[in-house]
Amino acid sequence: MTPPATFERVAPDIISDPRRPSRRAVLGTGLATAAWGRTVRKVEAAPEPDGLAARAARRGIVYGAAVSSEPLRTNRMLQAALARECAVIVPSFETKWGQTEQTRGTHTYARSDLVVDWAIRNGLAARGHAVIWYRNLPAWAGDALKEAGGAAIFDEHIRQVMGHYKGRLVEWDVVNEAIEISDGVPGGVRHSLFYEALGPDYITRAFTVAREADPSARLFYNDYGLEYDSPYDEQKRNAVLRLLTGLRRAGLVDGLGIQCHLKVGNRLTPEVLRRFLGEVAALGLRIALTELDVNDSRLAADVPLRDASVAEHAKRFLDVALDQTAVMELVTWGLSDIDTWLNGKGFARGDGQPSRCLPLDTTMQRKPLWHTIAMCLDAAPIRQSVFE
Ligand code: XIL
Repeated sequence: MTPPATFERVAPDIISDPRRPSRRAVLGTGLATAAWGRTVRKVEAAPEPDGLAARAARRGIVYGAAVSSEPLRTNRMLQAALARECAVIVPSFETKWGQTEQTRGTHTYARSDLVVDWAIRNGLAARGHAVIWYRNLPAWAGDALKEAGGAAIFDEHIRQVMGHYKGRLVEWDVVNEAIEISDGVPGGVRHSLFYEALGPDYITRAFTVAREADPSARLFYNDYGLEYDSPYDEQKRNAVLRLLTGLRRAGLVDGLGIQCHLKVGNRLTPEVLRRFLGEVAALGLRIALTELDVNDSRLAADVPLRDASVAEHAKRFLDVALDQTAVMELVTWGLSDIDTWLNGKGFARGDGQPSRCLPLDTTMQRKPLWHTIAMCLDAAPIRQSVFE
């Protein structure tokens, strides 16, 4: 087996320049830190005072990005950009079951550790995603979960991955994408392998085991299809609210993750979004915008026009979302267009042009979407740390 790859520190010139304010000075020790809780204090790389993390911190919000291990390992420009712009990092792929236990009983954390350790070493927090997801399962899990001891295997997976990261990840998306109305199951529960093997109670079971596995981590339910004004989204919002109400009553969930895979051309109605966010907040839950990106596949190739439309669409969403003070985190699903899932099969643009869905371009230059996020963060009301 090849030994796990390690990183050099990010841009030592950034780290050692005495004229640069420290990460702590920029992000503040006040509201933002209190709201985020247990971020790692060690300062090795300073964020830009005008970067997204610093702007977010001034409003009591945490900004960060997902990253895949390979570009993080190999691209020093991306490393430096993450250190400048982010307060939290999310491994986008590496902590999923299909990666951590490809072979039954053999647990592999080399790639996910690479991302998490890098974040922590550079003074960033790390967020976990996604313990129980119906996709990206190891091939063996299909049969194993349906065996007599299937529930024990399910529990053991949760204990394994959360135990490995105990105390290192501030939050986990414990269950991801468990609602699919069109499957016709009561409660809107997705007809997944977990549902087939364990019944609809698997969701509560996952949160119960997760709470024990890492009592200090904040636990989230995470889903997509909650953002827009469509009958699909409306039904899904209602099912998610019912699910959260039960989990909250049992003290098992701390927050809702709204993925925010936005798409230019989808119908956004401010009142609809505002009402839903208010309903979640009224349950006493915090809200994280966990996977923001803006799909530009309906737009013509022209880059300036495309960038402008992407930014404008994001602004309409963020104006409403960041106005709700229960929204404490904003994570983009990648920081730079070099590291996005939207160039993959099923999502890529028809004309073969790479997607321009993220705040920075492939050379780490700030795009209109970056400026829009910055402006929206600046305009957001300051959060009270009511969640501590
Ligand atoms: C994606 C990752 O970005 C890809 O690298 C991986 O191949 C598939 O998953 N919703 C989610 C994320 O909750 O886990 C998905 O991430 C994107 C959609």
